[in-house]
Formats: sequence, structure tokens, C-alpha cells
Amino acid sequence: MRPTEAEQFLTAFADSKARMLVFRMMTGHYAEAILEHHPRAASLDPDNIRDRTRQLCTVFFNEIERIGDQPAALPPLLHRMSRGHDPRPEFWFREFNEAYDHYRHHRKLEVKLNQLIPFLGEGDYADIGCGGGDLVCYLKEHHGKFRSYTGIDVMDWRSEAVREKIDFRVFNFAKPEGIRPGKFHFATSMAVLHHVGSTDASLVYFLSNVRESLHPGGRLLVEEDVILPQEEIAADRHYQDQVKHLIQEQPLYAAYLALDRQQQQHALVLIDLLANSLTVGVPDMDFPFGFRSINQWSDLFHKSGLVHEKIQINGFVKGTFNRSSHVVYLLKKDGDGVASS
Ligand SMILES: C[S@@+](CC[C@H](N)C(=O)[O-])C[C@H]1O[C@@H](n2cnc3c(N)ncnc32)[C@H](O)[C@@H]1O
Repeated sequence: MRPTEAEQFLTAFADSKARMLVFRMMTGHYAEAILEHHPRAASLDPDNIRDRTRQLCTVFFNEIERIGDQPAALPPLLHRMSRGHDPRPEFWFREFNEAYDHYRHHRKLEVKLNQLIPFLGEGDYADIGCGGGDLVCYLKEHHGKFRSYTGIDVMDWRSEAVREKIDFRVFNFAKPEGIRPGKFHFATSMAVLHHVGSTDASLVYFLSNVRESLHPGGRLLVEEDVILPQEEIAADRHYQDQVKHLIQEQPLYAAYLALDRQQQQHALVLIDLLANSLTVGVPDMDFPFGFRSINQWSDLFHKSGLVHEKIQINGFVKGTFNRSSHVVYLLKKDGDGVASS
């Protein structure tokens, strides 16, 4: 994490509306997810789980508050509190770890596959910014309709279980050098773009390189954590219909949408850094917080030669641990029939 990223995080943390919403989300969603995904869920005492989850989140928020205005103190604090720290701190209670590990290797991927099925194509498939590689592995074993399955990431943090099973390449789409990553018919990029850079130019460059790696007519499915300003929702009937439906079953999503543009951006910064560095346990990731609004992303895709075919607002997806304001874009490589280099 760069010093500017730590400063940005502390600015977001100082925004009381964003901070209070993220605290409510983490305590509520984590407790709900433990009670749903624990392998012996029926034996758990719900009140006890809710209390302990609240205590866990209170530790995070109090510790961060104590460092005040000292960005340099943030990275070592996150390392110490991370679930990935060896030894793992004791406040990560046993039921949390059991439920999260079970979820990460099973239910998370089931939920993801159900979301993806209506969009998935065929041919050669790649997951760009595949992280632990679990999605590639799961699609290979449970979907099986692609000809090949490749995970690509700038860092290799695959688990041992995945390592043997999938093709994997270390490749940086923000600085493509050397071998091209191949020509894919279908690619996914889930929760990656906001880790790539904060400027429009850096994102367009990354997306243009991803576009290059697609076959003519190939598709890219992007899932992003997105700002949904009230004026952009009000101007689009499809967005309005989707949001109206979602807030009936996601009460905290309604609270997120009621925040203004900057407060939503702050909430996304807090969710992103806390989820990845603490719960997922990878504090060394880059956090440029390149969050954009739903229409700003559409503009950037267009500038990168990717035409959108579908935009689906999923919000705080029920059944998942780390919920954020998810939107899925199905994009097609512009210029069908034109041979690419
Ligand atoms: C939040 S993680 C998401 C991982 C995975 N897609 C998932 O949904 O669990 C973001 C991933 O993007 C990768 N990434 C960031 N910049 C990248 C780049 N320039 N090229 C390739 N991967 C990149 C990071 O290393 C990280 O694994």
C-alpha cells in the first residue's frame, strides 16, 4: 500500500456516514454469512455469533481510530490484524474462520456461477485478475463448457488446492511486456478494475490491453464495486427498475444509495481495503481505489473499444461475506471481423 492510499483510506474513515454504514454492513453481513455458511450452522447460537462478530468489527474500527492522522501506521496495523497474519490473531474466532473457509471454497463459487451462467460463452476462457484462482478452477470442474481455462494475475497468491488444477500466468495488463496472454473468446474480470489505477488514462490503457487479448467478437464480463449517484439512477428507467427491486430485499443497500456520490465512494474505499487486507488476508495488494459511477464505467469501456451488451445491478448480494455495490457489465470487443494484432 502506497502512502497516498493510506491517506485516502483515513480520509474515507473520517467520513462518519460512510464509516457507520460500513460498520453496520460488516457486523450484519458477516454474522448472517457465518450463520448461513458454517459447516455445522444448526449448532450455532445466533445471538452469540452476532455478539462476537460485533466485537471483532469493533476491534478493527477502534484500532484504526487510534492511529488517528498517521497514514504510516496503517499498513503495519492492517498486517497485524489480517486473517492472513501468522499466527492469526485470536479475535478471528473459530466459527468465523470455519465458516469463511467453507464459504470461500464452496458457496462463494456456487453463488458466482449462478450469477454468471446467463452470460457465459464458449471457446477459450480467462479470468483476468484471478486472485486465488478459485473461480477458474470451479468453472472448469462445474461448468466445463469452455475449451480451455486460464487464470491471469499480476500476483500469484493461488492456494495449494488450485495450483495443480489450472493454467496460470503472471501478467500485468497495466504494463504488458513480453508474451501476449493469448486470444480468449470469453474473459471475466471480477473486482479488479478499481485495483488497477486511479486515473481514466490508466484504466483505458489496461482495458485496451485486455481487449487486445480477446478474439474478434470476444466478450468480457466485468464485475465492479460501483457508485450509483441518485441523478444517474433517476435518468435511466432500467437502472430504476433494478434498484427498486433490490432495495426490497437489501435494506442496507437502500442506505448506501441514500449517500451522496462522495460518501458512496468513501464507503467503497473502506469496504475494499478492510475486506481484502483483513478478511481475505492479502494486505499487500495495491489499493488505488479507482472507483467510478455506473455511467463513468460505461464511458471508459466505450473509450477502450468495448461495447456494452448488458448492465446488471446486483447490489449487496445476499449469501456472500464481503458485500459491496456490485454491478456486472457484459462487454463485447468492438470491431467484429477485424483481425487484431
Ligand atoms: C480484489 S482482487 C480480486 C480477485 C478475484 N478476481 C476475486 O474476485 O476474488 C483483485 C485482483 O486483481 C489483480 N490485479 C490488479 N492489477 C492487475 C494488473 N495490472 N494485471 C493483472 N491483475 C491485476 C490483483 O493482483 C488481485 O489479485
